[in-house]
Amino acid sequence: MAAQNPYLGDAKGIESGREIFRIYCAPCHGLKAEGGRGPDLTLGVYNAGDTDQDLFRVIMSGVQGSEMPEYSEKLGADNTWRVISYLRTAAKKDTTSWKGSAANGETLFWDKAGCGGCHLVGNRGGIMGPDLTQVGRKRSAAYLKASVVDVNQDLTPGFLTVIVETKDGKTITGVQRGYDTFSAQLVDAKGVYHSFYKEDVKSIKREARSLMPSTYSKVLTSAEVDDLVAYMMLLRGKQ
Ligand code: HEC
Ligand code: HEC
Repeated sequence: MAAQNPYLGDAKGIESGREIFRIYCAPCHGLKAEGGRGPDLTLGVYNAGDTDQDLFRVIMSGVQGSEMPEYSEKLGADNTWRVISYLRTAAKKDTTSWKGSAANGETLFWDKAGCGGCHLVGNRGGIMGPDLTQVGRKRSAAYLKASVVDVNQDLTPGFLTVIVETKDGKTITGVQRGYDTFSAQLVDAKGVYHSFYKEDVKSIKREARSLMPSTYSKVLTSAEVDDLVAYMMLLRGKQ
């Protein structure tokens, strides 16, 4: 028998839940829980399940293989229930869906905008950028939009740019796949994997900037960007 939430509808519990949320959760889910790097939590529907017990489980244990940490030690059961009571009050009654057309977005993604050249969806697409198979459940619409129109704003962790200059003067640029004292591995925009020993090359530089093209805000109309976001919001598949 799962525990019941002792703070449901309790004004003090909700207020302290809000404070805890601002400290621990807002950096990823936004100050009002409307999402950011993490998903919007005000929609009232969750992948993890919609009961208080489902939310309790996901907050206490985190989501393995994602950026969602586990809070069983940091918060403990009592504070987790307070946060859940707060989330229940933050949930919107009517959820307006994202305005774009997902069908147009899908066509753009694979054709004109060339996103599929660097991103996997299921087993289709390129491998230089992050796998987007589940991006619609991981990220909010606002974050996805910023990813397209303002690429350097919030770099996906683990996607550093590596620039290698070889001794015969060639430059190879790609996304880091490995890096240690002696060597570096990267994947270039064609999806080709490279591995170098530091002693064999002239220089290896790493930069915290994105290799995703920064021109989309100019070459796509804002309606097209909305369509792409609508398409990505539907990417909730299993990996
Ligand atoms: C470092 C960023 C980060 C922090 C901090 C964070 N989260 Fe998350 N959270 C995520 C991501 C990313 C996901 C999506 C995981 C997935 O399903 O791949 C997520 C998922 C969730 C879900 C499940 C949503 C669903 O639809 O199933 C809940 C609930 C949640 N977070 C609540 C919280 C609470 C409460 C806190 C603070 C105590 C918190 N998160 C802190 C990034 C974060
Ligand atoms: C030349 C390769 C390339 C192309 C083309 C490209 N991207 Fe990216 N994309 C990347 C790389 C590398 C990253 C990781 C660095 C960063 O956060 O920008 C990324 C990050 C992203 C992210 C953030 C993922 C996350 O979970 O944090 C989204 C969303 C995204 N791209 C969508 C798109 C869309 C939509 C298009 C087409 C309009 C596109 N990309 C075209 C390389 C590319």
